[in-house]
Amino acid sequence: MNKFSRIGFILAAAGSAVGLGNIWKFPYITGEFGGGAFVIVYLLAILFIGLSVFIAESIIGQHGESDVSTSFVRISKSKNPKWKFAGFVIFAGLIILSFYSVVLGWILNYVFTSFQGLPTEASVAGATFGALTKDISTQIFYHTIVAGTVIFIVLKGIKDGIERINLILMPLLALILFGLFLYAVSLDSFSQAMSFMFVPDWSKINGSAMLAALGQAFFTLSLGVGTIITYSASLPKDTNFVKTSMYVAFVDTLVALIAGIIIFTFLFEAGAPSAAGPGLVFISLPVVFSDWGILGQVIAISFFVALVFAGITSAVSMIEPSLLFFIERYNMTRQKATILCGSIFYFAGIIALLSMSDEFGPALTFAGKNTFDWMDFITSSIMMPLAAILTCVFIGFYVDKDLLRDKFTKHTSVLVFDAWYILVKYIVPFAITILFLNKLGFIS
Ligand code: TRP
Repeated sequence: MNKFSRIGFILAAAGSAVGLGNIWKFPYITGEFGGGAFVIVYLLAILFIGLSVFIAESIIGQHGESDVSTSFVRISKSKNPKWKFAGFVIFAGLIILSFYSVVLGWILNYVFTSFQGLPTEASVAGATFGALTKDISTQIFYHTIVAGTVIFIVLKGIKDGIERINLILMPLLALILFGLFLYAVSLDSFSQAMSFMFVPDWSKINGSAMLAALGQAFFTLSLGVGTIITYSASLPKDTNFVKTSMYVAFVDTLVALIAGIIIFTFLFEAGAPSAAGPGLVFISLPVVFSDWGILGQVIAISFFVALVFAGITSAVSMIEPSLLFFIERYNMTRQKATILCGSIFYFAGIIALLSMSDEFGPALTFAGKNTFDWMDFITSSIMMPLAAILTCVFIGFYVDKDLLRDKFTKHTSVLVFDAWYILVKYIVPFAITILFLNKLGFIS
């Protein structure tokens, strides 16, 4: 199999992790949960829970050296072929990609419309955004561009496609974020944003804030759909997987924090509210930028371009587990696998966007949720938590402990191994089970 270089792996895994989850979702949920205390809970969730599962997926991939199904079977104690069913998780990636591509299309649309001008009032910005999410032809147009780009990249394979695009886009993303950050530092509201993000007010933390932090930690690290297992299958054998996992988690967290600081500085500068929900980036920010004239337009365009870059590198990571599955298990060529999986997510994306329109919405709405929301719900509330629990139980009970200890202690101390093992075997599955039951409405 075509392998990543070590730095190529770190960039690609970081490219997968850093996405709309960091720049759009993290700031808006931090805003909704009132800042500082939520950020601290989130950091703990990344450090103790997200990172542990990341390392677990990385071991399965690096030592299974194959697609998700085959890797599970290979590293299980019993080599029981039934473990291949653990590979179901890869389909979550295709479902997520279907609507992720539609959302990336909105952002691409924002890049172009920002050239023409920005809305000066929140009501106008809200109406524009609302109209876009119901406009079938515009959404299909942008979804097609995004899907085409993703397909083009993965057709070229791990090294010439995925590694190369990350090598180009990740530094550009860092550059844009750094520029925006410097601008934020120069503004008066920077210190207000810093205290909003880092001074905890513990009265704002409750169960749902903790669960949101935990769910976000999984989503942002691309866990639970086999992405990290698949990428790690291309990780050179002797690479220190504990270190690479820590680098990726660190970069991902840094980007989320910086995005938060930038966005809250901008919002506070304009006196806009911090708890605007999902419309924060699509409705509140454009209005803030419009106050700054031509500079605002430049900032708006750079910001949305950064989001597109971050999103594209994540999108390719959602389809790759399925491709590798069909390539390894069904002996398909990469071209065939890409055409198959590419068509699936492309058409599912069209159904997702049709389900938001006035014309087709009613026919594509079931039990009060449209198809777009169902795709989100089935993946993030059901498939991903189940996959994470399965991964932990697998590692804790069905993989030889001595084998794991050996792999770890080549790179770290026994103490680190013991801590990780206890987390993965007992603590993480317990925490996710609570999250899972809550999302399904059994506990609130
Ligand atoms: N981590 C990405 C983000 O924060 C999204 C993502 C990419 C993802 N690959 C994934 C989420 C796999 C879940 C599973 O935007």
